[in-house]
Amino acid sequence: MRRALAPAAALALAACDAPQSMLQGGGTAATAIADLWWVMLTGALAVVALVTGLVAYGTWHGRTESGSLRFVYLGGLALPVAALSGLLVYSAGVGRELETATEAAPLRVEVIGHQWWWEVRYPDAGPGAVLANELRVPVGRTVVLELSTADVIHSFWVPALAGKVDMTPGRTARLRLRAESAGTYRGQCAEFCGAQHARMALHVVAESPARFRDWLAGQTRPAAEPEDDLRRAGREAFLAAGCGACHTVRGTDAAGTVGPDLTHVGGRLTIGAGVLPNNIGTIQGWIADSQTIKPGNRMPAFDRLESTELRAIAAWLAGLE
Ligand code: CUA
Repeated sequence: MRRALAPAAALALAACDAPQSMLQGGGTAATAIADLWWVMLTGALAVVALVTGLVAYGTWHGRTESGSLRFVYLGGLALPVAALSGLLVYSAGVGRELETATEAAPLRVEVIGHQWWWEVRYPDAGPGAVLANELRVPVGRTVVLELSTADVIHSFWVPALAGKVDMTPGRTARLRLRAESAGTYRGQCAEFCGAQHARMALHVVAESPARFRDWLAGQTRPAAEPEDDLRRAGREAFLAAGCGACHTVRGTDAAGTVGPDLTHVGGRLTIGAGVLPNNIGTIQGWIADSQTIKPGNRMPAFDRLESTELRAIAAWLAGLE
């Protein structure tokens, strides 16, 4: 018995330590949700234990007529109503707590779902602060996310920070979160949105308010001038290949809005919405044949580019931090 139970318990417990675990909250909203979950679980287990006990008792002692009607009223009506009402009132209280403003001036961040990536904007920092698949927040400050979609229904969910909210066409939903400890929290689109729904990840990086301020100031600046010939050639090849039809790189002629803004793409953790780590090699591979890496995405394969051009473009983009 013990030999059978140990692997099962190990499996169950391992699930509590995943990068997207809602039971290891790094934010106030996630902690409240985790507490709610534990209370609900405890309540459910208590009810199961009680009912199982009564079934066992009844089986053991057989049927008696006396007092059975009172028992039905108490055990079948009064007890469930009391238990469920208690849990309902508690969960409604937690729900209201999650929606109540805690700060006069929270940080506003717009997140727009696309098939299959996330556009992220900081409207209070100016029109330039646009990035993709990653958002940064200062530790200890309330952030209000304004969630919308450019195409189909997506769902924003970073389990360690807050609850899950759908992004429905024509509507803007709001989600409040506050990171209590610095770190990188992984999130995932939580509503099926097409072939690459599973590859629609994002990361929330929580850092100190001072570092966040510096980072945000950097994001609003245009792309840095290339430092060497390779990167200068990369910028030229990028513009010549027509990449600017879909991508914006502020400070150049590229001003497309179909794909992610690449002005500071070199500073991001991943490319392709969490598909690959971000470095010169993966950028090069992505440009050459993103359709093999993430079939069906909007970016065509640029396999006609010379390898020297590819390398130069990747070197330039990777340097745009
Ligand atoms: Cu976007 Cu699933």
